[in-house]
Amino acid sequence: MLIALNLESPMKKKYLYLETYGCQMNEYDSDRIHNALDVELTRNPKDADYIIVNTCAIREKADQKALSSLGRYKHLKSSNPGLIIGMAGCVAQLYGNKLLKQMPYLDFVLGPRAIPNLPQIISEIETSNTRKIDISFDIEEVFEVNPYHEEGRVSAFVSIQQGCNKQCAYCIVPTVRGGEVNRPMEDIVKETVYLLSKGVREITLIGQTVNSWKHEKYRFGDLLRIIGELEGLERLRFTTSYPRDITKRMVDAMKEVKEVCSHIHLPVQSGSDNVLKLMNRTYSREWYLDSVNRLRDAIPDIAISTDMIIGFPGETDSDFEQSVSLLEEVEFDSSFSFKYSPRPGTVGEKLAKTGSIDDKISGERLSIFQEKQKYYTLKKNLERIGKTEEVLVEGFSKHDNNFLFFFTTHNRILNFEGGGNLVGKMVNVRVEEGLPNSLRGVIPN
Ligand code: SAH
Ligand code: F3S
Repeated sequence: MLIALNLESPMKKKYLYLETYGCQMNEYDSDRIHNALDVELTRNPKDADYIIVNTCAIREKADQKALSSLGRYKHLKSSNPGLIIGMAGCVAQLYGNKLLKQMPYLDFVLGPRAIPNLPQIISEIETSNTRKIDISFDIEEVFEVNPYHEEGRVSAFVSIQQGCNKQCAYCIVPTVRGGEVNRPMEDIVKETVYLLSKGVREITLIGQTVNSWKHEKYRFGDLLRIIGELEGLERLRFTTSYPRDITKRMVDAMKEVKEVCSHIHLPVQSGSDNVLKLMNRTYSREWYLDSVNRLRDAIPDIAISTDMIIGFPGETDSDFEQSVSLLEEVEFDSSFSFKYSPRPGTVGEKLAKTGSIDDKISGERLSIFQEKQKYYTLKKNLERIGKTEEVLVEGFSKHDNNFLFFFTTHNRILNFEGGGNLVGKMVNVRVEEGLPNSLRGVIPN
């Protein structure tokens, strides 16, 4: 049950300044935070009644960023004593009470699963002036608060799963987001239908291992078919897929449902069987390559992107070379690569005690890998020249207001000159230029 905020006067709107770090799940959770409270968003922390930083703990750098960003707001309490400052998200979950001790200006700490309790927490802080922490995992209805959906958006996320049941040795996600909870089919359909009624045309289904989703007799492939049929939907995307859970049912649905985009983000993490084993990824290089082949057999021009961790404890030169050779073999359209960062309480942290890789070596390996990826990204972008892409126009380019932008079916950014009346429409654009990170095109006459 949502509890209304204790407003001083029914007319006075309260303002929330919300800062978000991390993955799509955090963006989605920020929208849930916004929706849980009866407030307007403000871009200026000085105008805020509430400041909430929604944090990411995936790598050490990310959680340091969260702590330092909160520090920036503490001085605002002297000019605005009623200001409530809270930390939400994965760093909140990870360090809990320590944060309250460390930061006397922090009013509450809220884990990702506890978002439905936020109105109650704020109301208690306002009435009894206490500090609160809620990092419980025992909320039954983790999806209870629907996200806030900004009017006019063409593209939106729908979360179909919280948490993760895999146990990758490097990863903090299962610790901070708990085990996998799959959202019922009816609720996913309901939220999607609502979004489509508001003018959304592209849905991205999100989950940590999105394709492991299941509910009653339904599997992920069935979900793609059911969502694909909904009136008004033009494009269907999903992220992030787990290689071991790529099934025939899923690949068939990807092939047959025309709304499903020709792109999959399929994190591999390493090209070496030794390292994959240490990481507890539960598949081999061969299994991964076989999944890639199955996808390409079904959808020949599918774009494949990946995540790669460089310098996991025990990674030898030869293991690293196998990651590079996997990139060469698959020719990933793009990849996110990261230096391994030990996370508290994980198996990887223990392995790092004896097998950690010198930071300089990891850095060198990372730049070798990223240079190679740049080559393939550009190669793939150049291959699109002369092709016509049917695209859903998302909005104006961030860099140049004369240009519209959108993601192609392969998840590449495509910019072209055009007017605002095309936003939200499907148009055909001919690719004229392939750039390192995007394409440029024109609408053919
Ligand atoms: N299934 C999730 C994975 C979340 S983490 C998803 O939705 O993408 C995102 C990526 O961060 C992982 O794929 C991995 O490549 C990277 N990562 C996770 N933990 C890491 C760590 N300890 N050090 C470096 N990179 C890490
Ligand atoms: Fe993390 Fe592995 Fe799950 S990367 S989110 S434990 S699939």
